[in-house]
Amino acid sequence: MSEDALPKRDVKEPILFECAWEVANKVGGIYTVIKTKVPVTVSEYGDRYTLIGPLSYKTAPMEVEAQEPTDPTVREVLEEMRARGVKCLYGRWLIEGAPKVLLFDTASMYHRLDEWKSDLWNLAGIPTPPNDHETNETIIYGYLVAWFLGEYVARQLTKAVVAHFHEWQAGLAIPLCRKRHLDVTTVFTTHATLLGRYLCAGSVDFYNNLQYFDVDHEAGKRGIYHRYCIERSATHCADVFTTVSHITAFESEHLLKRKPDGVLPNGLNVIKFQAMHEFQNLHAVAKAKINDFIRGHFYGHFDWDLDNTLYMFTAGRYEYRNKGVDMFIESLARLNYRLQKAGSKVTVVAFIIMPAATHSYTIDALKGQAVTKQLRDTVTEVQNRIGERMFERAARYHGDGGEMPSMDDLLTDEDRILLKRRIFALKRNSLPPVTTHNMADDSTDPILNQIRRVKLFNHNTDRVKIVFHPDFLNANNPILGLDYEEFVRGCHLGVFPSYYEPWGYTPAECTVMGVPSITTNLSGFGSFMQDLIDRPDDEGCYIVDRRMKSIEDSVDQLTDYMFKFSQKTRRQRINQRNRVERLSPLLDWKNLGIEYSKARQLALRRAYPDAFDEEDDFDFSSGVERPPFSVPGSPRYRNGAATPGDMGTLTEEMQRLGTNDYRGVQWPGLTQEEEDEGYP
Ligand code: UDP
Ligand code: G6P
Ligand code: GLC
Repeated sequence: MSEDALPKRDVKEPILFECAWEVANKVGGIYTVIKTKVPVTVSEYGDRYTLIGPLSYKTAPMEVEAQEPTDPTVREVLEEMRARGVKCLYGRWLIEGAPKVLLFDTASMYHRLDEWKSDLWNLAGIPTPPNDHETNETIIYGYLVAWFLGEYVARQLTKAVVAHFHEWQAGLAIPLCRKRHLDVTTVFTTHATLLGRYLCAGSVDFYNNLQYFDVDHEAGKRGIYHRYCIERSATHCADVFTTVSHITAFESEHLLKRKPDGVLPNGLNVIKFQAMHEFQNLHAVAKAKINDFIRGHFYGHFDWDLDNTLYMFTAGRYEYRNKGVDMFIESLARLNYRLQKAGSKVTVVAFIIMPAATHSYTIDALKGQAVTKQLRDTVTEVQNRIGERMFERAARYHGDGGEMPSMDDLLTDEDRILLKRRIFALKRNSLPPVTTHNMADDSTDPILNQIRRVKLFNHNTDRVKIVFHPDFLNANNPILGLDYEEFVRGCHLGVFPSYYEPWGYTPAECTVMGVPSITTNLSGFGSFMQDLIDRPDDEGCYIVDRRMKSIEDSVDQLTDYMFKFSQKTRRQRINQRNRVERLSPLLDWKNLGIEYSKARQLALRRAYPDAFDEEDDFDFSSGVERPPFSVPGSPRYRNGAATPGDMGTLTEEMQRLGTNDYRGVQWPGLTQEEEDEGYP
């Protein structure tokens, strides 16, 4: 069929495929993006929306319910792919919105890896070494997705197809779609750049040198040249290229050499409680569970008042420097000193939740929980017996004045001995350990080593205690048995002083749960909030300046924030939690989802310019809720731009402007001489 004879694809009701390695497969923040965004995307696309991810036999049964495809074209394509040996799972992802999901088993196609690798080399000049498992997975997944899309658009000729890809691991299908001239329009969203993450993890002054890095050389030096090529070709072949924050847009322009078309800030699925105080109650309930853990972990040295204790925490994938754990620990040491010097009665327990290689829990950590549980059980038994005796005595009242039973009669010698035994079991010769697990690399672990350096060993005199839990949280854990969300609710302050953080969901999640947090102006989230709120510090959204200040000054600022926080009264903390929680609409997908709609529309316009009239305005009426913003406090909207769509987007108008137009991106100025000197 000649091109003219092909029916025109309908761009008003397009089909959407969204592809990511973290679809129904939790690794980090991208999973959160995809999962929490589903309800707004489903409300816009309904059954025209399908997510495509990798099939993990371990987790898929918990995440997905298998079903037959309702779209006859999908059914046909999958039948054909299955006939050629592809294994996949099609069904509904069991999350809010219940979207259709297609998971490919990459293992079923490993026998074609070499063939596809040489095709990739011939097609795009991308080399691939033999033993990089992650890249091999990326290649197979990318070829499967491109295969699927190719077959799909060859059969379904009436509707436009938008394919949206996240991060380099899912991006390989983009150059394939382009080289094969598939009639789909593509959006690529990057959630970081490979080089950015690697460079920052080292000891490079990243942000002041962004313009000057010799990208190929740097990628080669780190053994990631092939991955970088995949990322860069996805970036350049996509019809629309986006990222999650202005700071990462700036970074992408320099490291990936394409200026993003737009910024798609990450949202959350905000659940509003009927009554305002409900989330405050949840804090109290969750805090009580953390208190239980503390009694067990610090047994034998538990000499402080839990009513005067603050729980601070940091959490995320173990990226010591990027996530700012180095800065957190240093500031905790200074906080400890300041609290001691001030004679403060407050105790701060700082949790670090970051998965590392371990050999399970330490005996000591398990024992702590066991001995306090035994103590609790014994006290309950004794209490019951005292109750029985008290009742018996009181019931024997027979009319002549009856006496109150005396305490000495009620607590028998037997009970006393039992209690004493339990109390003796709490005796301990060592300090409460800073970690809950046996670490695989105890002596070289950067977090442990820094704790050693600053000597935060949980001494009785320390006002700051440390608990390093080198695993993600789970309600089924024998110690600290809470889900992550519950744990966050029970804490008082989240601390995320990141150096490299394209967005940073952890502080955003704190905000919607009404928990104050500290982040930095190097994180996408921090810059976003700084841009929207006049005085974020007053709203319980503290932002450490890591751009214009020296490391020393940033550490001091962080210490100061934590110290001032520790001086607050309970009433002030409750008020602050209320203020924080009121910022939630700023982070709600119901408001931010529109940026995704814009990106898709831009992609459709670029692929099918003739289908849109000149004066055709972007249409976002379908499905996307646009409630008026009503956030009390001090949010500021630039130029009265009160619609969410004005929040993050660069889009085409921004394309014409120079590099320094990114919001919130301000660097110490370079002299012309320095500019001319180039790469340092
Ligand atoms: N998270 C979790 N369990 C934990 C700690 C963190 O599920 O014990 C989640 C957290 O809720 C967040 C994600 O991990 O959604 C981390 O995302 P973020 O954007 O902060 O960082 P990334 O790992 O993507 O760099
Ligand atoms: C919530 C509860 C209150 C409780 C308070 C403790 O607001 O509704 O009943 O007193 O938390 O707050 P704190 O900051 O001391 O943990
Ligand atoms: C990446 C970034 C993180 C971001 C997440 C979701 O993993 O490291 O900062 O929040 O993606 O966009």
